[in-house]
Amino acid sequence: MSEVIKKQTILSGMQPTGSLHVGNLEGALRNWTNLQNDYWMYCCIVDLHALTADFKNTKPMKDKIFQMAVDFLSAGLDPEKCAIFIQSEVPQHAELHLLFSMLITVPTLTRMPTYQEKKEKLDSYGFLGYPVLQAADICLYNADKVPVGKDQEKHIWLAKDLAQRFNTIYKKTFKEPEALFTTIPLILGSDNRKMSKSLDNHIPLDFTEKQTEKRLRSFYTDPNKQRKGDPGNPEKCPIYLLHKVYTDNPENEIAPECKTGALGCVDCKMKLNVNLNDALRPIRDKRVELLKDESYVWDVLATGGERARQRAENMMEKVRSSMKISYRKKK
Ligand code: TRP
Repeated sequence: MSEVIKKQTILSGMQPTGSLHVGNLEGALRNWTNLQNDYWMYCCIVDLHALTADFKNTKPMKDKIFQMAVDFLSAGLDPEKCAIFIQSEVPQHAELHLLFSMLITVPTLTRMPTYQEKKEKLDSYGFLGYPVLQAADICLYNADKVPVGKDQEKHIWLAKDLAQRFNTIYKKTFKEPEALFTTIPLILGSDNRKMSKSLDNHIPLDFTEKQTEKRLRSFYTDPNKQRKGDPGNPEKCPIYLLHKVYTDNPENEIAPECKTGALGCVDCKMKLNVNLNDALRPIRDKRVELLKDESYVWDVLATGGERARQRAENMMEKVRSSMKISYRKKK
């Protein structure tokens, strides 16, 4: 990017779920590691959002944050280029959340699809406000772009709406953030549903090569292809989806032989196994290295937090001043 063009800012967030999996890697992290070269990047580990799902069993949170930070670094996020930090270490997130909560009605929030899906189980005030907190995350850094999956579309729309509302009611203060959708299709897990840790259908980055092979063997494939010789439909197969990411030229190397039946599912999985493990090896090696020096990882988070707090407080001074709730004399 040329020097004269002012760099734009990206804010991205992920809930601390512990060590990450292939779905997180391809759905988000790879994209982030590319973006860090062209934007000011803020990568926020959103522990406050995680509290909305479970506010009682908080002891494991610290390790989940740590493991996720390790995977961010193993996958190639560079702390020189991008501030990796913990949301709760920047109290301005909570402050802007509260101010934004004045600008939105309860029915707008109860209509959000993410709330509708979980309201039987999660009916706290905190969970209702989840998208408001997310809007605060984004606007606090005056982000131009927010890399997310399609499932987050409404949340980004709400952040934009809140920024707009604030600008109209008080004074132009925020940019209106835009979603940056990932182009990779949704990575599916062993049961053909979205790959996720909670469904235990995932391929963790910290699996050994043997564990990876075992997990791949258990994967769902086209049910019409029972044995080698049966013709299969690669477009209905989560293994083929992974070939598209990890195998060169799968349209010619895999798909035709699957369709004729010449390639059996086990052989197809073993081809993927080789390519997948090759691709994950450098990440896994880096992970092992990082685990030898835990204090380095905590230092990265502390430094990232420091940078984030500075930027956030700078923004909050503007926010308080726009709202005329800034009472102290400037020094
Ligand atoms: N809601 C997001 C998700 O579930 C996580 C998130 C929280 C986030 N704050 C954010 C994503 C800010 C992008 C920007 O994936």
